Amino acid sequence: MAAPLILLSLTHLLFLLPSTLSQTPSAPAPGPAGPINLTAILVQGGQYSAFLRLLNQTQVLTQLPNQLNNSNQGMTLLAPTDNAFQNLPSGTLNGLSEDKKVKLVLYHVLPKYYSLEDLVTVSNPVPTQAGGSKGSLGLNFSGRANSNQVNVSSGVVDTQITNALRQQFPFAVYSVDQVLIPSEFSEAPAPESESGPSSSPPVAGKPAKAPSGAEDGDGTSPANNGGGRTVDVGVGLVGGVVLFCMAFL
Ligand SMILES: *[C@@H]1O[C@H](CO)[C@@H](O)[C@H](O)[C@H]1NC(C)=O
Ligand SMILES: *[C@@H]1O[C@H](CO)[C@@H](O)[C@H](O)[C@H]1NC(C)=O
Ligand SMILES: *[C@@H]1O[C@H](CO)[C@@H](O)[C@H](O)[C@H]1NC(C)=O
Ligand SMILES: *[C@@H]1O[C@H](CO)[C@@H](O)[C@H](O)[C@H]1NC(C)=O
Ligand SMILES: *[C@@H]1O[C@H](CO)[C@@H](O)[C@H](O)[C@H]1NC(C)=O
Repeated sequence: MAAPLILLSLTHLLFLLPSTLSQTPSAPAPGPAGPINLTAILVQGGQYSAFLRLLNQTQVLTQLPNQLNNSNQGMTLLAPTDNAFQNLPSGTLNGLSEDKKVKLVLYHVLPKYYSLEDLVTVSNPVPTQAGGSKGSLGLNFSGRANSNQVNVSSGVVDTQITNALRQQFPFAVYSVDQVLIPSEFSEAPAPESESGPSSSPPVAGKPAKAPSGAEDGDGTSPANNGGGRTVDVGVGLVGGVVLFCMAFL
């Protein structure tokens, strides 16, 4: 008597599952990104040609859309104006090694989508894509609850977000009036490993090693920019695998 019942409920389940699954969009789930053209966003902004050049030079321009596609958290870009670059002490950019240029650019990329409102209440420091000797380099955001005014600080540079070029999940682009120089750039040129009892916050548990041999051949980043990026890709991959498996349940 019991067996047919179980069978019945099992078959019921089998029919139920695919129907609930099919209600979710059938495309590879984590990447809701439509075609987002970063170049177009910045060109349209009209005053970001120096940043665009730097993005292009460091190849972040081509990597970022890929990352965006592989992320379910979205991303946020802080775009300094041409004015901001002009206001840098002369020779600042040219004095940077290629690695540092990449680091500088990635310091303007947050591996998560934040609306302006999010940034008012976000807990600091907010990790960026730039890796430092103690993990991801962070930025501090502050703002007032009912104004959309948000300040951002690198420790050595303190500026305001002046407007949003794009504010729609999964990608936000905000204009800033100064180039966010990491404070580590102006520290005495110490060797890579900073010693001493560091007061760095506990590093959040990284997910275990992501399955390697992913299909996209972009494991060859031009610089070793810390773990943030690979972790992101890992999370995306794991999510994808889980969803893939679910589809066969
Ligand atoms: C992105 O926009 C730029 C500038 O508008 C354009 O030249 C380029 O072809 C676009 N790229 C893609 C992939 O649509
Ligand atoms: C990026 O650089 C390449 C090579 O220098 C150039 O051909 C291309 O037009 C640049 N793209 C943008 C968007 O500036
Ligand atoms: C991102 O994903 C969409 C849909 O899966 C695809 O059409 C697009 O070419 C991808 N873009 C990049 C830069 O990989
Ligand atoms: C942001 O910075 C400006 C100028 O430095 C300052 O006047 C303002 O009070 C700051 N706002 C917040 C919310 O910290
Ligand atoms: C952020 O604020 C914390 C606490 O005030 C401070 O210790 C840290 O140096 C600041 N970091 C940056 C990047 O401004």
